[in-house]
Amino acid sequence: MSHMERMPRVRTYLMCPPEHFTVEYAINPWMDTTVPVDAALAVKQWDLLRTTLVDLGHTVHVLDPVAGLPDMVYAANGAFSVDGRVYGARFRYPQRAAEAAAHRDFYAAWNFVAPEHVNEGEGDFAYLPGAYGGVILAGHGFRTEPAAHAEAQEALGRPVVSLRLVDPAFYHLDTALAALDDHNITYYPGAFSQSAQRVLAQLFPDAVLADRADAEAFGLNLVSDGRNVILNTEATAMAHKVRAAGYEPVHVELTELKRGGGSVKCAVAELRHA
Ligand code: ARG
Repeated sequence: MSHMERMPRVRTYLMCPPEHFTVEYAINPWMDTTVPVDAALAVKQWDLLRTTLVDLGHTVHVLDPVAGLPDMVYAANGAFSVDGRVYGARFRYPQRAAEAAAHRDFYAAWNFVAPEHVNEGEGDFAYLPGAYGGVILAGHGFRTEPAAHAEAQEALGRPVVSLRLVDPAFYHLDTALAALDDHNITYYPGAFSQSAQRVLAQLFPDAVLADRADAEAFGLNLVSDGRNVILNTEATAMAHKVRAAGYEPVHVELTELKRGGGSVKCAVAELRHA
């Protein structure tokens, strides 16, 4: 099968350097507090991800890291923006709670809605501007509360499709599903409830399907600009799948961030201006 040339769309992102990165508590199955992390290597790998995005023509804003917030490098969790409106985060675990305020300050010039319900920003929300007139996909089951899905719909004025996650290894939506461009997604069906799998198959019949090994390699935790798909080096099979679908895989090595249970997408929040 041949594909039209996939066109990238220029993006604006927000990232936060892992200067204070450690694994000193365990709030997901990937975190092992007995294995030391190399924060200097984490910063080096993170910076290569940042320059990769910049070299592809995107703008990357950088949030100041805060000492004592080791997971702040996972900037995707701090908020979720659509059309210049921002739905703020409210973290599930107290260890990360203070991150929300740092992100809120960043969005001072935006139309910001403070959340009442627990939700972890782009960790559990994805936006497809070209599908169904603009649709939000939302995960629940481990971090974000279902009530936050309705709250996000009210805050952002876009339909929200609720999807239940069932595998603790894939505790955020962005560990199991990613937007490849404005209208299509890739996902690992086994991370979702039977009903959520049906919903995804109905809405996205052309989705690129991934398997458990792809998800375990954090191959779904990718950032795509519609053409270039930036993903973890370990995710070789996933790179073949996106290439077969007409996208251009771009590998970055993020071994240290995986120790905290995250990879490319977790480290990158997209800023969707109006
Ligand atoms: N240690 C972090 C946590 O468990 C990892 C967050 C990963 N972020 C993401 N967007 N999936 O909260």
